[in-house]
Amino acid sequence: MEVIYRPIGVIHTSFNSVEEMPIQPTSDVSGPGVVEVFPEFTDALRDLEGFSHIYLLYHFHKVRQSQLMVTPFLDSKPHGIFATRAPSRPNPLGLSLVKLVRIENHLVYVDGVDVLNETPLLDIKPYVPEFEHTHDIRIGWLEQVKDKIRSQRPDDRFG
Ligand SMILES: C[S@@+](CC[C@H](N)C(=O)[O-])C[C@H]1O[C@@H](n2cnc3c(N)ncnc32)[C@H](O)[C@@H]1O
Repeated sequence: MEVIYRPIGVIHTSFNSVEEMPIQPTSDVSGPGVVEVFPEFTDALRDLEGFSHIYLLYHFHKVRQSQLMVTPFLDSKPHGIFATRAPSRPNPLGLSLVKLVRIENHLVYVDGVDVLNETPLLDIKPYVPEFEHTHDIRIGWLEQVKDKIRSQRPDDRFG
């Protein structure tokens, strides 16, 4: 079975190359962005402004090949791709929890963005802490490297 999605918009950021860009929204250098939702989807944004944070789901459009094992930016050892947030996935889907600043018509202004400029947007969902199981959390191999999350920069590995 093949699944084909069409973008519902484009994420505009100041990051035009991977050098110096953030590896996650909680990075020191994550920044503002504008999520341009195509005008035909404007009605779908109604009532979103009441939420402080939203999930952006998007296509890592610059990934050229997928990998099953990857050495992530935060480690020097390889891990299964599903145990990482690396972009070079079998389905190159990205997920970022960002701060919602304001909405003007079909433009959603956000902060804490970690994606390349012109990334195709697939979906937006509101963040609702009550919907998430956020207790008894384990973070696997990342426990050893979590102090690096804010300062780590990507290299040029798109995979
Ligand atoms: C480690 S991923 C994390 C993205 C998201 N927070 C997630 O967990 O799915 C972030 C990195 O993906 C890469 N990246 C961001 N946007 C991309 C795009 N549109 N195509 C390919 N790679 C991208 C950059 O190297 C960036 O530092």
